[in-house]
Amino acid sequence: MPHIHIKSFNPVALPAKKDNVDFLFMASNVAHKDEHLVATSIDDKEFFLLIKDTAENVLLKSEKISRPSPTYLVKQALNKYAALTNSEILASNVNDSSKNVHLQKDDSLWTIHDFVKGFPEADDVRIEVGFGSGRHLLHQAKENPEILFIGIEIHKPSVEQALKQINILGLKNLILLDYDARLFLELVPSNIVSRVYVHFPVPWDKKPHRRVISPAFINESTRVLAPQGRLELRTDSENYFTYSWETFISLNKAKLEVNKNQEIAISSKYEDRWKKMEKNIYDITLINEEVSPELNLEGSFLFKNGLDEERLNKLNTTTQKVEGGFIHFERLYKTDDERMMFRVSMGSFERPEHLYVIIGKEKSYYFPTQPVPSQVNFAVHKHLDKLLHG
Ligand SMILES: C[S@@+](CC[C@H](N)C(=O)[O-])C[C@H]1O[C@@H](n2cnc3c(N)ncnc32)[C@H](O)[C@@H]1O
Repeated sequence: MPHIHIKSFNPVALPAKKDNVDFLFMASNVAHKDEHLVATSIDDKEFFLLIKDTAENVLLKSEKISRPSPTYLVKQALNKYAALTNSEILASNVNDSSKNVHLQKDDSLWTIHDFVKGFPEADDVRIEVGFGSGRHLLHQAKENPEILFIGIEIHKPSVEQALKQINILGLKNLILLDYDARLFLELVPSNIVSRVYVHFPVPWDKKPHRRVISPAFINESTRVLAPQGRLELRTDSENYFTYSWETFISLNKAKLEVNKNQEIAISSKYEDRWKKMEKNIYDITLINEEVSPELNLEGSFLFKNGLDEERLNKLNTTTQKVEGGFIHFERLYKTDDERMMFRVSMGSFERPEHLYVIIGKEKSYYFPTQPVPSQVNFAVHKHLDKLLHG
C-alpha cells in the first residue's frame, strides 16, 4: 500500500488546495490522539488520508474504508499533502503518481453509487463474483459482445489489472466494481440476470460468516435471476462444496444440478493450479424458475439537525441491535471545524458496511458516500438518527 514517512506532522488550516487536489477538513480521533484523517477530493472522488503521528515518526497513508480505485489517486493525494504541509520525507514507496497508460480510460470502472444512480440497461446481464485474475470474465466478455458483463471483486489490484485488459482489448460490454458482491446484489433489479458466476470463492473455513454463498446470497441471486437464469458455483474445496450443498438443499424449493470435474470453456488461474495438483472440482448450479417481485429501493438517509457531544461520547464503542441488523460505533473523531464524526459498521449482520457519519450543528451526513439503499440499511439509519439526535 502506498505510504510516506515524514519527519514531523505540521497540519495546515483546511480547506486548502494543492494543484488538482482539495483537502477539505481534518478529523482527529478523540481516544487516540495520534490518529488523524484528512478528507481529500480529487477527480470527483472523496476519501480520507490517514496520519499516524507516533513518537518515532509520522506515517501518511490511505484510509482503508474510503480508499478509491485506481490507486494512483491516493498516490497523488499523498504526495500533494506532503508538499502542502512542507513535510520532510524520510521514506516513501509513492514513487510513481502518474496514471498507467492503460488506466487512463476508466469508464468501465463504476462505483457502487453509479449503480445506485441508474442500473445499466441491457437485454442480457451476467455477473461474476470475485473474478480474481479476470481470465474467465474477460474471455466471456470477448466471446459475447452482445451481453453485458459485470465483474465484482474486493481485491483492488485485481480490479486494476482487469481494467487494463479491458482497455487493451477495447471491450465495451464489461463493467467492473470493487465492492462486496453480497451487498451489490441487493441493488440489482429483479429478474434481469442470466448468470451469476461464483468461481473458486475463498472457502473461509475458519470464518464461515465471510463466505459468499449463504442463504441470503442465494435468495438475492434467485431474485435477480431471470426465469431459467443460473447461479453457478465452482469450487475445489470439498468442505465448501458440502457446506454449499447443505445451504442450497435447505431452501424450500430449488432446481439444482451437480457436476464433478466438468470442463468449462476457460480455465481460471486457480482452476489450473488445482488441476495440476489433481484436485477434484465441483459445480453446483441453481436454475431459477421463479419471477420475483420488483425491487424497492425507496427510503431516506437524511438526518435531523443538532450536535450533542456528550451523547456522542456515550455512544462511542457501543453496539445497538436493530430489527434485521445492527449499528456499531467504532471510533469517534472531532473535526477541525467543530464537528464530530463517527466511524460505524452498520447494516445486516452477514454483510455490514463500514462508513463515516459527520455530525454538525446544522447538518449531518455520511462521508464520503451513503450506505447502499437496502431495506435493512434504511431501518438502521432511522435508528442511528434517533441515537445521534434524539
Ligand atoms: C480464490 S479467488 C478466485 C478468483 C477467480 N474466480 C478464479 O477462479 O481464479 C476468490 C476471489 O474472490 C474475491 N472475493 C472474496 N469475497 C468477495 C466478495 N464478498 N465480493 C467480491 N469478491 C470477493 C477475492 O478477493 C478473490 O479474488
